[in-house]
Amino acid sequence: MRLAKFLAHAGVASRRAAEDIVREGRVTVGGEVVTDPARDVDETSRVAVDGRGLRGAEERTVYLVNKPRGVVSTAKDTHGRPTVVSLIRGERARLYPVGRLDADTTGLILLTNDGELANQLTHPKFQVPKTYVAEVTGGFVPEARLRQMREGVELEDGKTAPAQVRQVDAGVLQITIREGKKRQVRRMIEAIGRRVVSLRRVRFGPLGLGDLPPGKSRKLTPAEVERLRKTAKA
Ligand code: URA
Repeated sequence: MRLAKFLAHAGVASRRAAEDIVREGRVTVGGEVVTDPARDVDETSRVAVDGRGLRGAEERTVYLVNKPRGVVSTAKDTHGRPTVVSLIRGERARLYPVGRLDADTTGLILLTNDGELANQLTHPKFQVPKTYVAEVTGGFVPEARLRQMREGVELEDGKTAPAQVRQVDAGVLQITIREGKKRQVRRMIEAIGRRVVSLRRVRFGPLGLGDLPPGKSRKLTPAEVERLRKTAKA
């Protein structure tokens, strides 16, 4: 990656301003001053600005967001729809969503500038549990259908792993899955002959949505981030 882009990603400055910082001779790569903003670097290049290594240049932060309906969970949307990232104001760090929620799905999504943590939390190996509340068409769901979902249903990309499924009210299901197939909950519900009316994620690993209103976000405490890291290492 170009040095100026690398600095911008690390939260040092905008790409233009980063180019100036490089030309001013304030940046070293592997201990040597580099004045070419196009120099190719990566995470292993030991980039420093004014003598400070870049690892510490941008604090690692994690936000918990209650995503409203119609907001997309990609960092950018090609159709100009609002993104979860735009819900967070006044944060210098470049934040990325941890996994995805459909535009129609509401609820808990994490945003972070810690790419490694994000990768671990979404890696199938770690099987981080995610809990959803789904209102489904057709009212009360018979126990046999719930059992089918618990044991695994056939989807076109394979059978789903065992899930926890509880009917909390007639036609309202609380579902915990440890995988992240595309539109998985919606497709599991279609597999038992129903459709989703509304879908909300209420838990991600050790974190709950609590009473955070839709569209609002909060920064995780260091203790919460620590719990997340443990989840990703378990
Ligand atoms: N399952 C879905 O079907 N949609 C989501 O957004 C998340 C899980």
